[in-house]
Amino acid sequence: MFNKRLKIKELLKQEAENQQVTIMGWVRSFRNNQFIALNDGSTNTNVQVVAELGKFEESLLKRITPSASLKVTGSVIPSLGKGQKLEVKATSIEVLGDSDPETYPLQLKNRPSLEYLREIAHLRFRTNTFGAIFRIRHTLAFAIHRFFNDRGFVYLHTPIITASDAEGAGEMFRVTTLPLENLPKNEDGTINFKEDFFGRSANLTVSGQLEGELAATALGEIYTFGPTFRAENSNTPRHLAEFWMIEPEMAFCDLEDNMNLAEEFIKFLIRYTMEHNHDDLAFLAQRLADEEKQLPQDKRSEMGLIEKLDFVLNNAFERITYTEAIDILLQSPAYKKKKFQYPVEWGIDMQSEHERYLVEKHFKKPVIVTNYPAKIKAFYMRQNDDGKTVAAMDILAPGIGEIVGGSQREERLERLEQRMKEMNVPAEDLWWYLDTRRFGSVPHSGFGLGFERMVQFVTGMTNIRDAIAFPRTPNNAEF
Ligand code: 4AD
Ligand code: MG
Repeated sequence: MFNKRLKIKELLKQEAENQQVTIMGWVRSFRNNQFIALNDGSTNTNVQVVAELGKFEESLLKRITPSASLKVTGSVIPSLGKGQKLEVKATSIEVLGDSDPETYPLQLKNRPSLEYLREIAHLRFRTNTFGAIFRIRHTLAFAIHRFFNDRGFVYLHTPIITASDAEGAGEMFRVTTLPLENLPKNEDGTINFKEDFFGRSANLTVSGQLEGELAATALGEIYTFGPTFRAENSNTPRHLAEFWMIEPEMAFCDLEDNMNLAEEFIKFLIRYTMEHNHDDLAFLAQRLADEEKQLPQDKRSEMGLIEKLDFVLNNAFERITYTEAIDILLQSPAYKKKKFQYPVEWGIDMQSEHERYLVEKHFKKPVIVTNYPAKIKAFYMRQNDDGKTVAAMDILAPGIGEIVGGSQREERLERLEQRMKEMNVPAEDLWWYLDTRRFGSVPHSGFGLGFERMVQFVTGMTNIRDAIAFPRTPNNAEF
């Protein structure tokens, strides 16, 4: 057996009692031909391996270079260095894989920029920043299952290839096996999708919600957690073409129940991460503080990362209607001084600058905005009695903007059919969806949390490309 190693995270919990251990990892640095900082990814903290002078061959020491992989056996002794209670005095060092320092692209000494690290995303896991981010991303994923499992929700896998557009926004990637150079045509010149793989036009899913509703109206409460795809050409720090979404859907649930669950869910995820990734969060908090030192005073956050997370945990989210939100914007100094780039009036789809004003300047905490104009929301949302608005809710988070989008669903068949007609959503393709309203329809609700936006929020990363291992964005599908 090769792998009888102790993970560094476990080693660091031990007391130094001269015990023999074997550890494996990658070299972060090698000082004075004697002190190796070794990291194995279990924690950001490196362990110091001491290669006593004169004990090892010069030819071996030469191979201890950044990112070389080592197997080290030695005894655990108290450390004299500051900031570490123990170190490993090596009795044997084996180089498992060499790393040529002349060509290794990741020189940690020069503090590589996040932009540069995106170009070498295959290696960025080897930095403290991305080590912390991906351990936290894992914790969040685990906590999501934990949260819903503890509440009796059923985890539903919805299809990735579909023939419908759940959001009705036409932002889909087509899936086809038709020959692009010689497309089969109908008599009227349109493409004959009957000859395509599925016998019809198909695409990657933008949301699992519609299928989620089918299951929720029998199983009661379900959630999805999977990849979704949007061919929207937005090159922003908050948009990906491939992102992961969590979509709970609950029968016997109205808009208020829905908001309560979403708020409880977000707080649970934050609390869970704070409990399980203390060191990673502390590291990222420091990173963010350092980064913000480069910014002018008025662009810096008022709170540090941990303070912000604590604050979100300990305060109720503000709840306002869309109409109230527009009034606040119209009354704002920013509006009066013409600071907004985009117009403000009832009916607009709020832009990021408006959402951020509400959250960061006005309320200074997460805000749930409800009852949006029907015209700017999807066909499935429940129509309110005023004839203009729907029972929608978006949660806006500081530094992120929209993190959750959800609604109570239109459970009344005629209302839904009429709305689909108005919005040109093809009812014949969604016959199966409408059946839920034909047979035992119930009030039901759900929401979608953008996973990478949640990762951004918890880690303090300002660009969504740093919240997923291999971001897919317009003109970029490397790795
Ligand atoms: O608001 P959206 O479009 O809502 C839905 O898809 C509903 N079907 C959800 C539901 O009610 N079950 O998307 C939900 C969330 C957004 O609030 C945002 O956090 C995230 O998904 N999101 C994106 N994240 C990254 N990149 C993109 N291009 C995103 N588009 C939406
Ligand atoms: Mg939305």
